[in-house]
Amino acid sequence: MKRFRKYRTSPAVRDKYAETVLEKKNLIQPYFVMQGSSKKEAIDGFEGVFRYTPDILAKEIRGISRSGINTLLLFGVIDEGLKTAGGSYAWSDDGPVPQAIRLIKKNNPGIVIIADVCLCAYTKSGHCGIIKGKEVANDATLPLLAKAAVSYARAGADVVAPSAMMDGQVAAIKAGLAGNGLKKTKILAYSAKYASNFYGPFRSAAKSAPSFGDRKTYQMDYRNIEQALGEIKADIEEGADMIMVKPAHAYLDVIRAASDRFRNIPIAAYHVSGEYAMIKAGAKAGLFDEKKAALEVLTAVKRAGAGNIITYYAKEAAKWI
Ligand code: PBG
Repeated sequence: MKRFRKYRTSPAVRDKYAETVLEKKNLIQPYFVMQGSSKKEAIDGFEGVFRYTPDILAKEIRGISRSGINTLLLFGVIDEGLKTAGGSYAWSDDGPVPQAIRLIKKNNPGIVIIADVCLCAYTKSGHCGIIKGKEVANDATLPLLAKAAVSYARAGADVVAPSAMMDGQVAAIKAGLAGNGLKKTKILAYSAKYASNFYGPFRSAAKSAPSFGDRKTYQMDYRNIEQALGEIKADIEEGADMIMVKPAHAYLDVIRAASDRFRNIPIAAYHVSGEYAMIKAGAKAGLFDEKKAALEVLTAVKRAGAGNIITYYAKEAAKWI
């Protein structure tokens, strides 16, 4: 008989044999930033997550750097009246994201800022690209994504993260950045982003639900894994500096396959809004302890191979670990 229980006799012994250790530096906190000043809004069905105006967000960030989190992912939210067919406010230098980047960088130069690059929060249709006929047009969307990325990079974003799932978006953004002398800006590609049922709370936060249809013609079909590896390979060839699998909890096999296959590039996973909300709801119903359940899931995401985990739990988890 081989005896395994000897590795589990006490907390200290278990620590010695722990193969995976979740660390603060693995965690990335997403934030929603809206226009205006002096406001922080709660979001229906998304407990613990808020929309901030850039000034209030900049204050919040001082607290987060004390908690040990040093990386943020920013999403912009704008009023319905500013939305257009092509989502032009996505590349306005006065948009909430560039404003927030400039303010945060002024007060906290050590924070790493990732700016999400997509059009869904800025288009009238709520789709991630421009509509031609009845379709989300791939190639016509590419220059628009590049313009948005350039605007965020110019404001000081360290990383731009295209999440629109348009083919060729990494190459288009890379060329846009290079053409504007922004060669130090890195690209985090949402390479394997699935058409998931777990984005609900996010869409209410970002006011970005599609006004018709769904995102299945551009986001991945959840029955596929080989195709995810193909998406990742293409993004690496186009010049991505980091790749992502999204969601995370239901896609641990995809994270594992990606980390086995692509050894020379960091891997991120996005523990999405619905996955976060499930833990909140289960804990509220008394089914399990929130803190323990959240740490179990986030550790599993790291165990699967993601060294960078985007999670609405980042700030809280940093206190817990
Ligand atoms: C925008 C985008 C979405 C998420 C991140 N970027 C929503 C979507 O594709 O509809 C979801 C994140 C989450 O649910 O936490 N394209």
